[in-house]
Amino acid sequence: MSITRSFALALVGAAAFATMTPSLAVAQSYENQLKARQGQFRLIALNIGVLGGMARGNVPYDAEMAQAAADNLVAVASLHQGAMWPEGSDSMSIDGTRAMPSIWEDNADFLSKWGDVATAAAGIAAVASDGQAALGPALGPLGATCKACHEAHRAPES
Ligand code: HEC
Repeated sequence: MSITRSFALALVGAAAFATMTPSLAVAQSYENQLKARQGQFRLIALNIGVLGGMARGNVPYDAEMAQAAADNLVAVASLHQGAMWPEGSDSMSIDGTRAMPSIWEDNADFLSKWGDVATAAAGIAAVASDGQAALGPALGPLGATCKACHEAHRAPES
């Protein structure tokens, strides 16, 4: 087979593949986006765990560790959310997510509730190295931001 002919066949193959792509797009799982957005919540939860352990006295207070955990919360809360929440990746459309359609129907509310996390995290970072007693009161407002958004935009565990 000549090189030109095999090249032409490869092009035909590519064209056939191209006509298949729309159906592939429909079956898209958004796996990377789900992992990224769920992972950011796990990062938040892990660092809250560090601070909560010290606040309750289950873990000895360590100013440096407390400050690092609080700074992590600030860092995660500063992430832009757009790329992690593509349209069509809600719990009514795909498996593997508890993200309710309301996130896209009222995106301004969702983003404002995400912004509240940054405010609360900044409050923790401001006092994290001031001693064990400062942690509990600063964690309260953060917990309220989780609850508010989960009640509005996270589907119950199925
Ligand atoms: C702006 C809305 C919003 C805020 C604020 C929010 N969450 Fe969530 N959270 C969600 C949504 C939506 C999901 C489901 C994501 C999915 O399944 O795709 C979720 C999922 C989670 C998960 C499960 C992750 C996984 O592995 O599936 C944890 C843990 C979590 N959130 C913890 C928190 C904590 C702790 C806070 C508070 C600091 C918080 N979230 C604040 C909306 C929010």
